[in-house]
Amino acid sequence: MTRIAVVSALHAELRALLPLVEDRRVDARGGRDFHRGRLEGHEVLLVLSGIGKVAAAATAALALDAFNAQALLFTGVAGGLAEGVQVGDVVVGRELLQHDMDASPLFPRYEVPLTGRSRFAADAALCASLAAATDVVLAQPHPALQRFGIEAVRRHDGLVVSGDRFVSTAAESAALRAALPDALAVEMEGAAVAQVCADFGRPLAVLRTVSDRADDSAHVDFERFIADVAAEFSRDIVRAA
Ligand code: ADE
Repeated sequence: MTRIAVVSALHAELRALLPLVEDRRVDARGGRDFHRGRLEGHEVLLVLSGIGKVAAAATAALALDAFNAQALLFTGVAGGLAEGVQVGDVVVGRELLQHDMDASPLFPRYEVPLTGRSRFAADAALCASLAAATDVVLAQPHPALQRFGIEAVRRHDGLVVSGDRFVSTAAESAALRAALPDALAVEMEGAAVAQVCADFGRPLAVLRTVSDRADDSAHVDFERFIADVAAEFSRDIVRAA
């Protein structure tokens, strides 16, 4: 059976899924707890990476190598960048790019040196199944979103950008929008994991719920969303996928 790794940066993003894992066994490796078991008939590996590209890349490498995960889903929250990507919306990352990668003038800005690539594609089949699951969940009013005062949310598919910065000013997010006009959302792990999955030749998907607009109130919105909504909402989408 294919073992799918489900990775999140924060406990709040994964905590609702953990109790649903049947026959759960925990192995510690590299300072992380890897939870193996079954979820909705799939063999799964759940693990918290911690925040940022290095933490995410190290966790992904362990999941794929030491635990032989055959595919990886990174799930959590992100800051909305594109106009119309609002708090509560869901973004399926079809492409991932490290917005803080800059080895110019040796290599073009954003290009990962010696790979010839700046954008890493997510797996089309995994994305399709996450998109379908998202639509099922979004079709009903979600109690977690309603508690947060959000009624209507949308799904977006496209570019997610990652970097080792929590984007928390309107000026910073405007600069990202200007530099990367098709970027839908910003977070701190997805593109790092995408690079590792490409190295291993294993499929990747990134699913993000928008917790804030990466602007001057991002830190406040992020904290509230993480506390109130993130866990239940991503649990329901991952279960449905
Ligand atoms: N994850 C959630 N919100 C974010 C933001 N504003 N910047 C970076 N990562 C995020």
